[in-house]
Amino acid sequence: MDNPLEAIKKRRSVRTFHPGPLGPAELDRLQELCRERRTGPFGNPVRFRLLDLSLVSEEERRRLGTYGVIRGARFYILAAVKDQERAMEDLGYCMEKLILELVSMGLGTCWMAGTFRRSSFAAQMDLEEGELLPAISPVGYPADRASLTERVMRYGVRADRRKPFEELFLEADGSPLTREAAGLYRDALEAVRLGPSASNRQPWRMLRDEGGCFHLFLKEDQGYNRAQGRIRIQNIDMGIAMCHFELAAGQLGLKGRWLHQAPGLALPGLEYIATWA
Ligand SMILES: Cc1cc2nc3c(=O)[nH]c(=O)nc-3n(C[C@H](O)[C@H](O)[C@H](O)COP(=O)(O)O)c2cc1C
Repeated sequence: MDNPLEAIKKRRSVRTFHPGPLGPAELDRLQELCRERRTGPFGNPVRFRLLDLSLVSEEERRRLGTYGVIRGARFYILAAVKDQERAMEDLGYCMEKLILELVSMGLGTCWMAGTFRRSSFAAQMDLEEGELLPAISPVGYPADRASLTERVMRYGVRADRRKPFEELFLEADGSPLTREAAGLYRDALEAVRLGPSASNRQPWRMLRDEGGCFHLFLKEDQGYNRAQGRIRIQNIDMGIAMCHFELAAGQLGLKGRWLHQAPGLALPGLEYIATWA
């Protein structure tokens, strides 16, 4: 990807698609991207499959529902990961990288970890022992006009809005980190802030310590995050944030990598995820 910052700014959820076929070059590239081996920052490999609905029987297709949320999509990306520690973060990280590649090709996508019939899609993934199917995404050319369902959904979650910068990012003493004080890291933090999150809840918080390291935390909504057993939607959000921060930092020439190095600060209501150092 030549310009991840541009892809991060351009990405938005697309739920209404042109039903026609993809161009051959795009389809080739899409297949290639789904075949690439990907491993997240915590070391979990993530497996992808491209599902072409035109190749499944009419009866199977009826079962592969999205409750009317997605219209006109012929292709879906399915993502599976072994149920291990930090698997959700790794899935979020790897799938968001793939999604940003697709966005930079002009394709539309939509993270889905809730509104689809998981068991029917899982049957298409041939899950291995211990694997979960946490998320899928339709992929294709966006339609010119969003369906009414899509417009209502976007309105319902205020999809174009994000929490203020100073609420998401903090100084070591817990006071707000302003854009000005963030200096060279401002755009990397903005890239986190622009990210998609389940129901647009934006559970990412980042704290900059005195040494200039950034610690990523989850402000969990427990009832929401734990409603689907081992699939933790907000931990997927954390992986997406790690992807955005890392890609943006890379493009901005800021050196660093993700480590597990808890800062030794007890922040009420926040769960530590990782440190950029
Ligand atoms: C982990 C995750 C799960 C999501 N699950 C769904 C879903 O099941 N159905 C859906 O319509 N949108 C889903 N979304 C999309 C969010 O609602 C969307 O990203 C958010 O409202 C912000 O809008 P934007 O992506 O256009 O910036 C999900 C997003 C994420 C990151």
